[in-house]
Amino acid sequence: MRIMLGLFTALAVVPLFFFYAGAVGSAGTLAISSNTVCGISATTLPRTIYCTDIDESVATTPYLVYPNVSFDSVSAGTDFFCGLKSSRKVFYCWNGNPVNRKRVYRGSWVISDLTVGETQVSAIDRSGNEIRWWRKAGLFPSSVLGDYSSLTSGNNFTCAITTNGTMTCWGPLSNYTMSTIVAGDSHMCGLDSSGLVICQGSNSSAQCYAPTGSPYEYTGFALGLSHTCAIMQPNYTAVCWRNYGEAQLYQPLNGTAFEFLVAGGNLTCGLTTHTYSVLCWGSNWTDVSVRKLSLPMILPGICVAGGGDECDCGTYPESQRLCKGTGVICQRCDFRKPIPPSPPPALAPIPSKSKKTSMTGWKLDWWN
Ligand SMILES: *[C@@H]1O[C@H](CO)[C@@H](O)[C@H](O)[C@H]1NC(C)=O
Ligand SMILES: *[C@@H]1O[C@H](CO)[C@@H](O)[C@H](O)[C@H]1NC(C)=O
Ligand SMILES: *[C@@H]1O[C@H](CO)[C@@H](O)[C@H](O)[C@H]1NC(C)=O
Ligand SMILES: *[C@@H]1O[C@H](CO)[C@@H](O)[C@H](O)[C@H]1NC(C)=O
Ligand SMILES: *[C@@H]1O[C@H](CO)[C@@H](O)[C@H](O)[C@H]1NC(C)=O
Repeated sequence: MRIMLGLFTALAVVPLFFFYAGAVGSAGTLAISSNTVCGISATTLPRTIYCTDIDESVATTPYLVYPNVSFDSVSAGTDFFCGLKSSRKVFYCWNGNPVNRKRVYRGSWVISDLTVGETQVSAIDRSGNEIRWWRKAGLFPSSVLGDYSSLTSGNNFTCAITTNGTMTCWGPLSNYTMSTIVAGDSHMCGLDSSGLVICQGSNSSAQCYAPTGSPYEYTGFALGLSHTCAIMQPNYTAVCWRNYGEAQLYQPLNGTAFEFLVAGGNLTCGLTTHTYSVLCWGSNWTDVSVRKLSLPMILPGICVAGGGDECDCGTYPESQRLCKGTGVICQRCDFRKPIPPSPPPALAPIPSKSKKTSMTGWKLDWWN
């Protein structure tokens, strides 16, 4: 067990609801807010977003948000989600309730890394090389110029890494401004240049615990309110630890390979490598209560237009098929080992159009 000072300890004292330290930034294809999980379907074109409730007492059926819109990515804060349209010039925000939702933002800039904090929404403007904020409530600037490669948002702060590896944060809780993080392309809690876990941040007196591991053994971090999970290589098993009090390592699903994990509050969900299905668990290691959600197959990464020129570490196998000819998924740079061999999940035929009625009969499906 290695004890580290770091941002993620500093963050542990801040209510933090969504913090995914993946290679593509905090925006992804699956997000958690409160008890709702939303993900981008791998089985439909347009690439629609389905949401479902994971509250044990409410077995909701997955529902479509914006049935006719094709999405690039989804992100979540404390109370709401935002999804970036495939054009990357429009995004939609909604809360967990399908009736009381809907906010649409349209712009003339192409944006990426759309992330949601407690109230603020921020994104990297790819046309103008700057970060922009919406719903900033006087707490954030409108925009900041710079060459940024990734972004993450939490309660009252947004942090970004510049292309030269410097991290800067904004917002009332931005005294986490860091010197540097040597972290390839991951951020906050990431890997140093030799592939070891490093969590860097303010000089808070708090401490956190993380397994030392060997280079590239732990990656794909997902940070909840009081726990952290990571994907362990070479078998892609999820491992979690609590960072309050005494560190406690636990493996909620030893033997199940995951593409990525996301966390929110005390929940963690992962996308399985073999079926692209969503499994979720709690942060109480004595009873993680693993559940399988009845969401459709979720994309293992964001489909980016083009043939993969944007990808630093190559393209994900079969991703042209997964993206249905609209682009490719970039291979994560922090996954140094090939994906465990397995036939990719069979994909359903592309429906001619998505119909809300096709959702009748979906139900919460308990896995354990
Ligand atoms: C989606 O498309 C269908 C068929 O084209 C149309 O009837 C429906 O009104 C559209 N829904 C929305 C929310 O735009
Ligand atoms: C965020 O900042 C606002 C305004 O300063 C404050 O009212 C709110 O309590 C803050 N939230 C957190 C979680 O600190
Ligand atoms: C996980 O499974 C492997 C192989 O079955 C076993 O050797 C290992 O002890 C298990 N680890 C835990 C924490 O259960
Ligand atoms: C997966 O790898 C980890 C780390 O090497 C190991 O602790 C765990 O037992 C492995 N699980 C299985 C099922 O082999
Ligand atoms: C998770 O958080 C919710 C809401 O804060 C709480 O009701 C629930 O008991 C927590 N569950 C666990 C396992 O800690």
